[in-house]
Amino acid sequence: MSDRLAGKIALITGVGGGMGVAAARRFAAEGARVVGCDLDDERAAATEALIRAEGGEITVMGGVDLGDAAAARDWVDAAVATYGGIDVLYNNASTQRFAPIEDLAVEDWDFTIRNELDLVFYTVKAAWPHLKDHGGGSIINVGSIAAIRGVEFMAQNAHSTAKGGVIALTLQLVVEGGPHGIRANVISPGLVETPNTAPMLADPPERMRRVVLDRIPLGRHGHADDVVNAAVFLASDESSWISGTNIVVDGGGSVLG
Ligand SMILES: NC(=O)c1ccc[n+]([C@@H]2O[C@H](COP(=O)([O-])OP(=O)(O)OC[C@H]3O[C@@H](n4cnc5c(N)ncnc54)[C@H](O)[C@@H]3O)[C@@H](O)[C@H]2O)c1
Repeated sequence: MSDRLAGKIALITGVGGGMGVAAARRFAAEGARVVGCDLDDERAAATEALIRAEGGEITVMGGVDLGDAAAARDWVDAAVATYGGIDVLYNNASTQRFAPIEDLAVEDWDFTIRNELDLVFYTVKAAWPHLKDHGGGSIINVGSIAAIRGVEFMAQNAHSTAKGGVIALTLQLVVEGGPHGIRANVISPGLVETPNTAPMLADPPERMRRVVLDRIPLGRHGHADDVVNAAVFLASDESSWISGTNIVVDGGGSVLG
């Protein structure tokens, strides 16, 4: 690794999950001081132990429900109290529920918006004054190609709406953050192998293979590091004049109609 994030204080949400673990490991390996969180206590502790064993600097709070505004603020404030500021806020965490529009319960809709969109607003709102005080920073919000097209194989009504909201919010953050040196960008992954998706990818439904996997120009599904590579760039000073972009990391799949 090349210390591309040397000394940066990087807050990463959902570090117990597939891409979150990969992000925390890579950010720490690149020299960042990582402050993570996750709803899941055990997975949060496992990520912290793993990265410390590798010599990385990381603190992870478990049992943090970012869909609760006060809990999100407490996590951000604890990071600032420990490290004195924020350079990077990487909103990776999310949970969602899928159902066709006729079957999608209001409760499932609300759950998804809370756990994919509200939580981004809450961490950004909590971090904003600290980012301003610190002279700026980089906000990286994880969207999805779900926000830019409908699909036949997944009933993504609430999920795509929430991720579309993440992208729209990011655009306004660009405008309001610019004068303070705050950058905001989105990474929109395509289908990425994580512990959640691995069983499905090992034995993909015929329709998913036909509609998605066989139509990825670069010929394979994604891996967590494909996404994290983009995040390292957006977190680093290499992207210091980039704000408002949406980096689509999907092997080129979404350009096919
Ligand atoms: N895996 C894919 O194919 C794919 C594709 C497009 C976008 N994405 C997006 O990438 C990001 C990471 O995805 P992943 O596959 O690694 O997910 P994951 O489910 O493996 O990990 C998400 C983590 O976030 C945590 N989390 C969820 N809700 C939380 C909350 N309210 N408070 C705190 N922590 C919470 C979970 O406990 C989990 O550890 C997500 O935003 C997801 O929507 C994933």
